[in-house]
Amino acid sequence: MIAIGCDHAGVEMKKAVIAALSENGFEFKDMGTDGEPCDYPVMAKKVCDLVVSGECEKGILICGTGIGMSMAANKVKGIRAALCADSFSAKYTRLHNDANVMCMGARTLGVGLASELAEIFLTTDFEGGRHQRRVDLITDIENNN
Ligand code: RB5
Repeated sequence: MIAIGCDHAGVEMKKAVIAALSENGFEFKDMGTDGEPCDYPVMAKKVCDLVVSGECEKGILICGTGIGMSMAANKVKGIRAALCADSFSAKYTRLHNDANVMCMGARTLGVGLASELAEIFLTTDFEGGRHQRRVDLITDIENNN
């Protein structure tokens, strides 16, 4: 199950991503917004809580730029959120960073690219090995600040 959420800027892109990836068998827990104006940190927290609790394996967050969502998501303990706008980043943030949330900008990307980036993100496994040590060091920073 994938948690997904957006603010008012990301509603159409979120619908497009859900439609495209549902065809490939992914299931989504849609935390809103369905269109009402809202504050992106509120939506980021809802999606991240589902990822941290283990109820959802990963999360996708969409706002105008993706920046506010990524800032908010990375404040949640246990979340490694990556703002992605290209396929290399979507792939390598899984391979090397074990990112568990991907953020995208609805005002900077087209819906076709967004769906493709989401698919790459959701189908790429963490490489582990030396990258686990680096991810652990990120967690150390989180735990010691
Ligand atoms: C909303 O207008 C906009 O500020 C928001 O979607 C996002 O881009 C913030 O980072």
